[in-house]
Amino acid sequence: MAYLTVNIDPIATIRQARRTDEPDPVWAAALCELAGTNGITVHLRQDRRHINDRDVRLLKETVASKFNLEMSLAEPIVRIAEKVRPDQVTLVPENRAELTTEGGLNCAGQQKRLAQIVKRMHRKDILVSTFILPDEKQILASAEAGCDAVELHTGPYANAKTDSRIETTLNQLRDGRDIAAAAGLIVHAGHGLTYRNIRPVARIEGICEFNIGHSIIARAVLVGIRQATEEMIRLIEQ
Ligand code: PXP
Repeated sequence: MAYLTVNIDPIATIRQARRTDEPDPVWAAALCELAGTNGITVHLRQDRRHINDRDVRLLKETVASKFNLEMSLAEPIVRIAEKVRPDQVTLVPENRAELTTEGGLNCAGQQKRLAQIVKRMHRKDILVSTFILPDEKQILASAEAGCDAVELHTGPYANAKTDSRIETTLNQLRDGRDIAAAAGLIVHAGHGLTYRNIRPVARIEGICEFNIGHSIIARAVLVGIRQATEEMIRLIEQ
């Protein structure tokens, strides 16, 4: 059975739209845990556009399931991870202009830096995963650097428009899983997964963890809007 970790960055994005204190991602994490999630993910970006240092500190103290910190390889962020000690870090590429994480991490092109970070994280008992395209070179580079897991990028699958493209991207994920498993890596997957497209990926055996954010938070807004409206009407009427 695969696990779900909920990426709650979009909660912080809504908060930051007004620079206020609601909705609090720490409360959202607790509610996801009450609903049974196996983990909580946040991305502490260098520009702090959504999740901030306070969120990471409090989530480390309050998340009872797995706390997964997504981050770039930038030194100030690596130092924060060493201090906070999440259960896992997922290393991602970070580009200031992007709306969300775009391509996979180029592990083969920065293997020395990657291996140094893995060593530093392991010294603090933090598991290390890399967010990569299901590409043999990147998977093997992650394994050689000593990573524990890889998160296979499901963006190309999520963006596939035709049946044949969907099948090709699913096969790439299956091949990636096989290569990663043979190299001793745990296999995660994520990005762009929704209530509509999750089923075929969830059927791929050997993927242990799905990291899903936008679609869950988007649905939460809509399934919760009726109650929220009714509560405000009640307050006005009183
Ligand atoms: N995995 C990684 C590495 C990500 O950067 C993100 C988005 O922050 C996700 C998974 C979740 O993607 P989505 O919000 O599209 O579900």
